[in-house]
Amino acid sequence: MLVQRPKGTKDLLPEDTEKLQYIEDKVKNVLENYGFGEIRVPVFEHTELFQRGVGETTDVVQKEMYTFEDKGGRSITLRPEGTAGVVRAYLEEGLASRPSPIKFWYNMPMYRYENVQKGRLREFHQIGVEVIGSSSYLADVETILLGKRIFDVLGIKDIKINLNSIGCPKCRGEYQKILKEFIGENLDKYCDTCKTRFEKNPMRILDCKEDKCQKLNVGAPKMLDYLCEECKEHFENVKSALKAKGVSFEIDSNIVRGLDYYTKTVYEFIDEKNDITVLGGGRYDGLVQELGGTPTPAVGFATGVERLIEMFREANKDLNFEKNPDLYILSVGDEENKKAIELAEKLRDNDIYVERDLYQRSFKAQMKFADKLKSKYLLVIGENELSTNLAKIKDMNSGNETEISLDTQDILKIIKQ
Ligand code: HAM
Repeated sequence: MLVQRPKGTKDLLPEDTEKLQYIEDKVKNVLENYGFGEIRVPVFEHTELFQRGVGETTDVVQKEMYTFEDKGGRSITLRPEGTAGVVRAYLEEGLASRPSPIKFWYNMPMYRYENVQKGRLREFHQIGVEVIGSSSYLADVETILLGKRIFDVLGIKDIKINLNSIGCPKCRGEYQKILKEFIGENLDKYCDTCKTRFEKNPMRILDCKEDKCQKLNVGAPKMLDYLCEECKEHFENVKSALKAKGVSFEIDSNIVRGLDYYTKTVYEFIDEKNDITVLGGGRYDGLVQELGGTPTPAVGFATGVERLIEMFREANKDLNFEKNPDLYILSVGDEENKKAIELAEKLRDNDIYVERDLYQRSFKAQMKFADKLKSKYLLVIGENELSTNLAKIKDMNSGNETEISLDTQDILKIIKQ
């Protein structure tokens, strides 16, 4: 019986990877124009990193981590997200001494044991950025503009930006008390997950997707109404800079994000057609300290590459990714084949895409194949051509034939014209 790929994983075929590479090239170009440098961190880390970084009460840590004991008895986890590992590397590699802010980007696979559904995988990829060092609203704005530009350069228009502020530990503590009073009145009616969140992380209850909980949440106090002066000013500045730049966004006071490290600004980019979050991020001013560093503010986001590919596909139906050979060399017979190999290799030395027969097929079969590949030119090497060193090269679009010598430079002249 066939062994199948594990649930929630994907195979990428050449027709997928060519789109992926196109996207990666475009995005990398944007990231470089914003001054970000690429970082790569290990696929697996000590489990404690995510427990401390992402947070014990989050779904990611409680339910979704691929955790195992290695042969040395250490608890190891396949990374479910990139921020904790990047911050660990920032601390471990002593990057705090470099000129700041430090601006990293990454494109890495992530692993979460999720309920698989549309847009939700167990192995997925994130392109993310982290700006470490600046507490200014300007850093938040820069990441939002950068995120928006990624969708712009990929021609993706149906994107909505949702924004919220979840305050700092100071104002959040006050707010959580008030929120708990509100939820507490009906706690017995909430789902079991919400009940477990009540004590440690009541704000996550606002994020519950269960119908009955959403109904119970109507009229709940909003964090935005309880921000301290500093958080309020920070948020006003973010909004005003985005407005000045003409970026449309909506305030969504229900965004709390699924990871515990966020403070102040949080945001999500939504695929409007499918109602799926394609990018999520925000400020995380406490994480560096939580992981053992000195207090250092930071902000960043990550976008799901598989979700990005889907949106890109939808938005660019007319883009043609097919790669057609510049030349097909048709040859039948051993000596003719040797000549075909020699020519093909020389042309490839000159960066030309050449195809030829690898089956010893008949003349007719090769003609058909060259047609199927939509080769731009066709060159036939038969007995005659071999003895005279002259051949006809055919422009497959116009049907025009030109007689040339079987010399690389002559062929190049025609192909490159
Ligand atoms: P996140 O919201 O958990 O944030 O994930 C970011 C994005 O990754 C999501 O918006 C989504 O596009 C994609 N994603 C998440 N889970 C899956 C999945 N199971 N299948 C497919 N795609 C998925 C973070 O991970 C933060 N580390 C982002 C960040 C960076 N915040 C600050 N810096």
